[in-house]
Amino acid sequence: MMPLAAHDHESGIRENPGSHTHDHGGTSDATVDMVTTLAGTVLPNPVLTASGCAAAGRELAPFLDPAALGAVVTKSVLLRPRSGRATPRMAETPSGMLNSIGLQGPGIDAFLEHDLPWLAARGARAVVSIAGGSVEEFAELARRLAGAPGLALLEVNISCPNVASRGQVFACDPLAAADVVRAVKAESGVPVLAKLSPDVTDIVAIAGSCVEAGADGLSMINTLLGMVIDTDTFRPVLAGVTGGLSGPAIRPVAVRCVWQVHAALPGVPILGMGGILSGLDALQFLLAGASAVSVGTAVFHDPSAPVRVLAELRTELARRGITRLSDVVGAAHREPHR
Ligand SMILES: Cc1cc2nc3c(=O)[nH]c(=O)nc-3n(C[C@H](O)[C@H](O)[C@H](O)COP(=O)(O)O)c2cc1C
Repeated sequence: MMPLAAHDHESGIRENPGSHTHDHGGTSDATVDMVTTLAGTVLPNPVLTASGCAAAGRELAPFLDPAALGAVVTKSVLLRPRSGRATPRMAETPSGMLNSIGLQGPGIDAFLEHDLPWLAARGARAVVSIAGGSVEEFAELARRLAGAPGLALLEVNISCPNVASRGQVFACDPLAAADVVRAVKAESGVPVLAKLSPDVTDIVAIAGSCVEAGADGLSMINTLLGMVIDTDTFRPVLAGVTGGLSGPAIRPVAVRCVWQVHAALPGVPILGMGGILSGLDALQFLLAGASAVSVGTAVFHDPSAPVRVLAELRTELARRGITRLSDVVGAAHREPHR
C-alpha cells in the first residue's frame, strides 16, 4: 500500500491544493501530465469514447477531433452486417437510458474498408470492439483485424448470447468468458480487453477467469439489463422487451465494480465506464482503480462530452495540486492524502 503522502513529489501530488495557486487554487492545467498506460499501450490521455455510442468516430467529427481523445472505442463489429432489433429500441429512464439496438452494424469487411482507415488517417488510436455468437466468430474477427492500421487494442464484448449454450451470455459464465478471451488472444497482435457485464453475482470471479485466460485488461461495465412498461398500452416499451440500462443511473454500480476488481486484482489494467458526465465523474473511476475511462451515453445529449470531460478532469486534477494523472489511479484504496 502506498499512501499519498504530504509533499510526496515522487508521486506528483502536492500537499496543499490551495498553496500552488495559478488560476484555480492548484497547479496550472498545462502542467498536469495526462498520459496513461492501458494494458501496456501508452495513450496521450485517459478519456475514450464508449463502444456503441460514437459509431466509428466519424459521427463525432463535427464536434471533436478523434485524435485528441485517448482513443476511439468503436461500436462492436460482427462478422456479417446486421440491422439490429425492431423499434422502438430506446427508452428514457430516470437518470438513464434503456437501449436494445441489438448490435446493428456493417460487418467486418465494410469496417476494415471504410471505418478503421478513416480513424487511422486522422491519427486517432482505435480500440476495436468485437462481438459474436460463438467462440469461433470472435476468433475469426481477431484474425481479420490482426495487423490492421490504427488498431491499438481489441475490446471483446462478451455480453452477447452464446448460440451454442441456449443464448446464455458469455460474460455471465466464467468458463465461457475465458474460452472467448483465450481464442481471441491466440489470434490478436494487440492487447485484449475483456468487457464485463455487471449482471453477475460475483464480477471478481469473471474478471479473474478472463485474466487467467490471457486478457491484458478489463473494460467495465457494460449496460445493466432493464425494462420499462407503458402504463397506457400495458405492454413493454421496447420491442425487444428488455434492454441495456446506461447513463448516470448506473454510475455507482460501475464504480463499485471497478473498485472490487481493482482491490482483488490490483495489477490488472481497467477501462472504466458507466454514466460519466463530467471530469469529476471520471475522477471517481480513476480513484477506484481505472487507468482510463469511456464516455458513452453522455454523447447523445452533448456530442463533445468526451473532450469536455477530459478538459474538466485536467482542471480538477490541477485544482487538487496533482501533476501526474497516473498518481490518482487506485488512490481511493490507499491512505487519504489530506
Ligand atoms: C446506444 C448504446 C449502444 C451500445 N452498444 C454497445 C456495443 O455495441 N458494444 C459494447 O460493448 N457496449 C455497448 N454499449 C455499452 C456502452 O459501451 C457502455 O458500456 C455503457 O453504456 C455504460 O456507459 P455509459 O453509461 O457512459 O453509456 C452501448 C450503450 C448504448 C447506450
